[in-house]
Amino acid sequence: MSKTIIISNRLPVQLQISDGGLTAIPSVGGLATGMKSVHSGGESLWIGWSGLTDEDTPESLESEIDRALSEHGCAKVKLTAKDVDGFYFGFSNRTIWPLFHYFLEYTEFELDFWNVYKSVNQKFADAIIAHSDENDTIWVHDYQLMLVPQMVREKRPNTSIGFFLHIPFPSYEIFRTMPWREEVLTGLLGSDLIGFHTYDYERHFLSSVRRLLGLDVSFNDVYLDHRVIKVDSFPMGIDYKKFKDAALEHNKNKEDQRSDLQIKLDNHKASAPDTKLILSIDRLDYSKGIAKRINAFEYFLNKYPEYKEKVRLIILAVPSRSNVPQYQLLKREIDELVGRINGELSTVNWTPIWYFYRSLPFENLIDLYTSSDIAWLTPLRDGMNLVAKEYIATRIDKTGVLILSEMAGSAYEMNEALLINPNNFEQQADTLKRAITMPKEEQMARNMFLQNRLERYNVEVWANEFMNSLNRKSEGDETFV
Ligand code: UDP
Ligand code: G6P
Repeated sequence: MSKTIIISNRLPVQLQISDGGLTAIPSVGGLATGMKSVHSGGESLWIGWSGLTDEDTPESLESEIDRALSEHGCAKVKLTAKDVDGFYFGFSNRTIWPLFHYFLEYTEFELDFWNVYKSVNQKFADAIIAHSDENDTIWVHDYQLMLVPQMVREKRPNTSIGFFLHIPFPSYEIFRTMPWREEVLTGLLGSDLIGFHTYDYERHFLSSVRRLLGLDVSFNDVYLDHRVIKVDSFPMGIDYKKFKDAALEHNKNKEDQRSDLQIKLDNHKASAPDTKLILSIDRLDYSKGIAKRINAFEYFLNKYPEYKEKVRLIILAVPSRSNVPQYQLLKREIDELVGRINGELSTVNWTPIWYFYRSLPFENLIDLYTSSDIAWLTPLRDGMNLVAKEYIATRIDKTGVLILSEMAGSAYEMNEALLINPNNFEQQADTLKRAITMPKEEQMARNMFLQNRLERYNVEVWANEFMNSLNRKSEGDETFV
């Protein structure tokens, strides 16, 4: 029977060795959380990096690792510490990530990173070949693996290969600065179908293909070596039911079933009933605009001092890629900003910012989503941003206001949110005021539209639409001579 092979750098769980045994920790990030729901319902095999390097792993643990991963329907690609340095911390996160998010000043073009990226992509392609046969469908995910489609195509000319990019594809003017731009495009074009979150990313990609490779592009088809490659946009959804049900369950919890975090949030509400909680959740990443958001919050408190002691900003910043220098600098900047603002503005009864630098279990995310009056998400550039969708899905009584950056892919589908430009502090201060004072009826009217749309275009529908398009492509007569 044919199966689907999902392949991404990050698996849904990360393995860690502690006290000689293995622990599986849920992975953070939109790719892992979204695809987890798709994977758990199907017959797929998910191949990726376990989180351990060869140097971390004693021989004796190899079979235990395979067993632990296979419990999650996963298989591993083995990477050395040098691979992880050059491929993951290097080319993926010091070259592609900043470049594709328009942070040219952070982008490093290092030949060594590129060489390791190529050899590690080959390891992933080899793992696909080892675990699949000709009839299987291959679904490759994200910027860490852009060469894999072509590498698999060379060995399996007739296999169906789809690729989905979870981050923005930048404009041609940005993409063309990369020394290895043609190789990256050729790698991606090994696919039969290439998917992006938005029409703009799709357009940018097609423009680069046309201008850098000189290929024929007609509407969203690319013509290459007797093949037609289809390019399309598929905005990723969330597991709406999972978030809605969790919020329903959460509301039923008796007093003594509450988490410590929920008790703290409830105590806060009881002691200051007319205070509004404003929430932001992101990986600690410069693309998320966290430092700017904190500055904008200070600007708001200075512009509208009547809200001092009446609002509290909760920042959940999840540790991410902490070996990359820019992330270390950002961590320091945020620590200092939060310290300074809390130091300057706190009163005996009030700390303006609650800052958590950690990842939280699912139940605590639900505590935060359901207890916050406003979600304030200000990425400077974001492929999609699933947190925005998750916040709305948990608002059972339909109250709550979402303030969302127009630079996030999700803004295209969330017009009823209050959309802002994260660089415009004046607009953000006014929008915060508007959110704080928004009548309940208006909140409910806006969220009703948002919820209906998110429920309809959930992550399962997203995956099915991608897969159906890939299957139609392989069944149809789409090669040309
Ligand atoms: N998330 C998580 N643990 C946390 C905080 C967040 O698993 O402590 C999840 C969150 O629920 C969401 C994902 O991480 O599904 C973040 O995805 P998003 O698309 O917003 O941003 P990304 O991290 O992929 O850039
Ligand atoms: C984004 C990327 C994913 C990545 C995730 C977490 O969502 O699109 O590919 O897995 O961030 O980042 P990490 O570097 O921890 O895998």
